[in-house]
Amino acid sequence: MIKRLLSTNLAWRMSGLTYLTAVIATNGYYVNKGQLIRIGKEENNTLLKYLDKSRNLLEFGSGIGKNLIAISDHIKFGYGIDINPYYCRIAKILTKRFGIQNLLFFRYDGKSFPSLPKFDIIYENGVFERLPKEAVTHYVETLRKDFLSVGGMMILYFLNENAKHIGFTKRLGDSAYVFWTKEEITDLTTRLGLKQIDVHEWPMAYVYVLSDSDTLKSYFPHF
Ligand SMILES: C[S@@+](CC[C@H](N)C(=O)[O-])C[C@H]1O[C@@H](n2cnc3c(N)ncnc32)[C@H](O)[C@@H]1O
Repeated sequence: MIKRLLSTNLAWRMSGLTYLTAVIATNGYYVNKGQLIRIGKEENNTLLKYLDKSRNLLEFGSGIGKNLIAISDHIKFGYGIDINPYYCRIAKILTKRFGIQNLLFFRYDGKSFPSLPKFDIIYENGVFERLPKEAVTHYVETLRKDFLSVGGMMILYFLNENAKHIGFTKRLGDSAYVFWTKEEITDLTTRLGLKQIDVHEWPMAYVYVLSDSDTLKSYFPHF
């Protein structure tokens, strides 16, 4: 019963009222603000090679801003969008607290995306793990069509079976999460015409680096 309650949209949303509850909901356990950004830097370390001071990045489901704040020195501008207005509010407070000037956070209703420019890089981390696979397909397709620059890159995190039966899924139970196999991800990305540049195997997830076209090489010359 408690598990079911915790996994509802309402509980997800209410957790954004304070930093304490928001950090537990988005990070899995409590850490203070400095530790949160350090964790963000560690987690995103292997992705830094795809970033560039001349490139803009959109994070889908940016939560309280852990990733964007952690990589803010490595991009030109970062936008975060999230369905939870309270998380966006905390992300803005943290951004100010760390003196960061190149990030913006927007809430939206999960359906109509806010009016945003095109981005060189679109990043998702920890969002698809709670969404049905059809919804993920829809989001990847829409984000690519409406917000990815020609030749741009998508970096997408998919929870995999390694996350089953461990501390990470214990609080809500495995059934609250959606796990992906490599075959399913390849099927999705191939159907959408995305090319695989790299696959990173993180402890609980596959992180796919994808390009929307053959022009990636001229866009990101080091690939
Ligand atoms: C586990 S948190 C991860 C937050 C952040 N990406 C990180 O790594 O710290 C998942 C986030 O996805 C957001 N989210 C859930 N459904 C979403 C949707 N349909 N569109 C955008 N964000 C969504 C939640 O509000 C939450 O902030």
